Amino acid sequence: MDTLHGLDDLHAWRGGTFVPTMGALHKGHCDLIRLGRACDGPLIVSIFVNPRQFAPSEDLATYPRTLDADLQAAADAGADAVFLPTESDIYPTGHAIDCPPLPAVARAPRLEDGSRPHFFTGVCTVVARLFDLLSPKRAIFGEKDWQQLQVIKAMVEADPDRFPIEILPCPTRREPDGLAMSSRNVHLSPAHRHRALALHRSLELARSATDSAAAEALMRGHLEASDLAIDYAVVRNATTLEASEQPLPPLRALIAARLGDVRLIDNAAL
Ligand code: PAF
Repeated sequence: MDTLHGLDDLHAWRGGTFVPTMGALHKGHCDLIRLGRACDGPLIVSIFVNPRQFAPSEDLATYPRTLDADLQAAADAGADAVFLPTESDIYPTGHAIDCPPLPAVARAPRLEDGSRPHFFTGVCTVVARLFDLLSPKRAIFGEKDWQQLQVIKAMVEADPDRFPIEILPCPTRREPDGLAMSSRNVHLSPAHRHRALALHRSLELARSATDSAAAEALMRGHLEASDLAIDYAVVRNATTLEASEQPLPPLRALIAARLGDVRLIDNAAL
């Protein structure tokens, strides 16, 4: 596996499959890489902790960084190359690296966009920059970040000349007890790790509900009973994520909740 520093060698990797990450790779990331391995052409993974998607109050400084283990995991999962840009590679001084127009699904639903207003500007800026540098044929994003997946799809669909890229989703990898894998799970104390199971259990309860309102009530009730601070626990149309009393199918239940300093998200098809 090649390790790419700087922008000079990237042209050799254009036109392949791309898996963008912020490192701290876990089995969920390895699923993304393995899905890419099953596609034709070269497979490149990027590792870049993007400062623009963190608010000053968020966990940029403590975001887990595990480069040696990440390189081993990427190689084992089948990556051909790992791109390790510096901040000045992505945001060169004196060059305006702007965000593409944010699609409605990044601005309207009041989900991640409501709780973290800076987030999709940062994500779309870095993903567009990486797409411009790497010109991939396809790119793979995890379903765990469901709104992010819809935002990237919409960004690409809005500008097919700049982004002639197929976006492939990859299902969420879960621990045996159901907790969705996340790089931030390492920050959970043992007691919070146990309470974090309430997200998955709430989604299971939502799946048993007769309608969207009942599903939302069941999710909120279970999260509150487990003493999680809820950012949102909602049922939405899976693509637009628009708020409405009776969202049109296909439906997706989406949760964001906090345990101490750790913010967790999860989602499921209904
Ligand atoms: O999902 C992530 O890890 C990040 O948001 C991404 C897509 C790599 C952009 O920094």
